[in-house]
Amino acid sequence: MNVLTFATNEELSAYAADFITDMVRAKPDAVLGLATGETPIGVYEQLVARYREGRVSFRQVKAFNLDEYAGLSQGHTQSYQAYMHKHLFSGIDLPLEQAYIPCGRADDRWGAARDYDRLLDEAGQLDLQLLGIGHNGHIGFNEPGEELHAQTHVVRLKEETRAANSRYFESLAEVPEYAITMGVGPIMKARQLLLIVRGEDKAAVLKKALLGPITTQCPASLLQLHPQLTVLLDEGAAKEL
Ligand code: F6R
Repeated sequence: MNVLTFATNEELSAYAADFITDMVRAKPDAVLGLATGETPIGVYEQLVARYREGRVSFRQVKAFNLDEYAGLSQGHTQSYQAYMHKHLFSGIDLPLEQAYIPCGRADDRWGAARDYDRLLDEAGQLDLQLLGIGHNGHIGFNEPGEELHAQTHVVRLKEETRAANSRYFESLAEVPEYAITMGVGPIMKARQLLLIVRGEDKAAVLKKALLGPITTQCPASLLQLHPQLTVLLDEGAAKEL
């Protein structure tokens, strides 16, 4: 595990963007696993900047997002599809037919989960999975509990996750109760993992994830088993390590 701490979000995001840029330059048809949330916004901004400067092209890349809310309407501003378009896809040359996100609008959610696994299987191993961490230790929407799932699945979001994400919605009631998430299988099989954590409010869960016991009660603790894990932190998140 390689843990790096940065003084500013800009430096942290630049490091992550360079990491991804270098990977795509070395392997133009790389398969990237992407995340949403507040944490990677700076990384996506800097990836767009590197694309505009002509330093990288995503034309042959395939991208798989970790998760999507279930039941939001087409084009809902808080869908992860809308997020990815806003922060990354509209600013780079990745063909949209190579950008995959679980279909949260599907009537048959489990069918959509199985379809997503088929696409993941066809694409082969992820070259890189970008990850954030929830306050309860979730990765993607793999929530803490008695068990973890290797495959894409429908998940009932924990109340703490809905509460944390309610800042983007008009009210807590509007936050979807369900989501479709990639399981821990493709995450753990990815060649490289890049975990980004910011803020003192994540310091305690980060300590549990990196130094605590490996347990389904803290899904991110599984990452300790990955042979190529890079963790990028700001000083707040690094406080308890
Ligand atoms: C989102 C995702 C989640 C977030 C986590 C942290 O695709 O996979 O696991 O990474 O909830 O979110 P932020 O960055 O908003 O604190």
